[in-house]
Amino acid sequence: MSDPRYTAKAATKTEIPRPKRGEGQWALGYTEPLNKNEQSKKDDSPLNVRDRILYTYSKRGFASIDPADLRGRFRWMGLYTQRAPGFDGGKTAMLEEEELDDEFFMLRVRSDGALLSHDAVRALGTIGVDFARDTADVTDRENIQYHWIRIEDVPAIWERLEAAGLDSMEACGDSPRPFLGSPVAGVAKDEIIDGTSALVEIKERFIGNPDFANFPRKFKTALTGHPGHDVSPETNDVSFVGTVHPELGPGFDLWVGGGLSTNPMLAQKMGVWIPVDEVADAWEGVASIFRDYGYRRLRSRARLKFLVADWGIEKFREVLENEYLDRQLVSNPSPESPVGHRDHIGVHEQHDGRFYVGIAPTAGRISGTILVQLANLIEEYAVAGARLTPYQKIVLVGVEPAVVEDLVARLDEIGLSARPSNWRRNTMACTGIEFCKLAIVDTKERARTLVGELEKRFPTLDTPITVNVNGCPNACARTQVADIGLKGQLVMHEGEQVEGFQVHLGGATGLQANFGRKLRAHKVTSAGLDDYITTVVTNFLADREAGELFATWVARADEDLLRGDKLLEGVTAP
Ligand code: HEM
Ligand code: SF4
Repeated sequence: MSDPRYTAKAATKTEIPRPKRGEGQWALGYTEPLNKNEQSKKDDSPLNVRDRILYTYSKRGFASIDPADLRGRFRWMGLYTQRAPGFDGGKTAMLEEEELDDEFFMLRVRSDGALLSHDAVRALGTIGVDFARDTADVTDRENIQYHWIRIEDVPAIWERLEAAGLDSMEACGDSPRPFLGSPVAGVAKDEIIDGTSALVEIKERFIGNPDFANFPRKFKTALTGHPGHDVSPETNDVSFVGTVHPELGPGFDLWVGGGLSTNPMLAQKMGVWIPVDEVADAWEGVASIFRDYGYRRLRSRARLKFLVADWGIEKFREVLENEYLDRQLVSNPSPESPVGHRDHIGVHEQHDGRFYVGIAPTAGRISGTILVQLANLIEEYAVAGARLTPYQKIVLVGVEPAVVEDLVARLDEIGLSARPSNWRRNTMACTGIEFCKLAIVDTKERARTLVGELEKRFPTLDTPITVNVNGCPNACARTQVADIGLKGQLVMHEGEQVEGFQVHLGGATGLQANFGRKLRAHKVTSAGLDDYITTVVTNFLADREAGELFATWVARADEDLLRGDKLLEGVTAP
């Protein structure tokens, strides 16, 4: 039988009419910059800012930084100015960005799904201790994010990162942002295919490559060969998801055009089979389409999802095959969507008889000190290494059976539990008002006290309920795909504006993927959040059918039971 991987090269170019009003699509001839971000990227490649940081700004100090670099190109090096203290959420939309800038930076370090050795984890920890006032957050993009970074210290930080095989290159900006890779790649018993080599190849070929450093906006990649779809592939611009072809064996399906923020869209599935050694070429094709055909006029329409939504997945595939890959992809039905946890928390046996152990910081917040302690444990127990997860968690990989319980106890002592409560396991929070210039409300601290309170009120919950706390509509902690998604905003309470949230209920990825139910004119104050969630969860527990998931219940529940001001008759809250 002929190998279906190699079919005749497609010859035709897809007809793409030139729209009457240009959207800034380079491939259609609109190469003149149409906004100030496009102008800045054209004025100078954002990658050039690296040398200016190393040789000028770090020596001459914050005041010497060119504003176009500070608020533009610095992002390509993973650096954002953080929010100056003392401005509440009411000021966020009122002040210019420069008024909210502090003279300190957030620095994001990408892990790209890599297995971090004890040396790498120790380097990450000591950077936090020495340069970041002991901050270090695990983010839902598998990054470590620091705060309080001074420009003077950036060269030393980069040196230490480089020695540990890490970097902050293109961790922000209109660039190939940090990749999400399966935290259990190469070790999970039920893995379909290990995609590690593909992620390494994409990184080598395209990160820091000037041909892929000026996209219309950010470009987010996810890749997993795990059947649990553990990298939120529905919400990335490009995702490769493990699949099996009946004759060709394991490979990857290609999904494109996912993203959240104010106009959320789930990725569309191409239904193809791509072998692992051709994934990087497919990535290059998708990234090139985004670069060449992406909309560059309005930043609010510049993400790949808008192009995919306009074209449809068939046309997208056609352009990819005809103009970029020079061959046709093998069609294959998309893999089934899973239900349930994707976070790998707990103790699990690997295919080689060793174990992996998923541990949960609260809402992604740890510290440099904790990372150093973690590195010491990894070394002491001869663990193969650690991976970060898209759920603000950490997975230790390659733990010998004889030491598992000892290690779990030691991890608990440093606040990293392998057996966390539902609330600690399933609550995420974005950066929020503490450091983010776009924030309207506090998130991390609010999430921490929420978890503490809900642990008291519902100490044993027999079904997972996820809570994602976000400081504004940008949805960095994925508001729309949580059971209880919280979008920060100011709300009126007794005649005053106070911190609060709009609530999305019953959002999900996987089999039941949807963006959750928003109740009309429904807001909760931040102070009233614990009680609101308590009421809704109490109603759920009383009203659910056997085995019913929270999201399924929300879809059918009476609005009264979701608004939080009424308990089901005969029920009392804890
Ligand atoms: C227009 C502006 C922005 C939009 C639309 C946006 C959107 C998003 C989205 C959708 C994610 C989740 C990605 C995923 O599903 O994996 C994300 C992640 C993230 N974003 Fe933003 N973002 C914006 C600006 C910012 C800014 C200014 C900050 C600075 C604090 C920030 C910090 C983060 C962080 C830290 C993450 C990882 C989430 C975490 O674990 O904390 N974002 N962003
Ligand atoms: S959701 Fe808003 S507040 Fe939270 S990190 Fe993103 S931009 Fe900042």
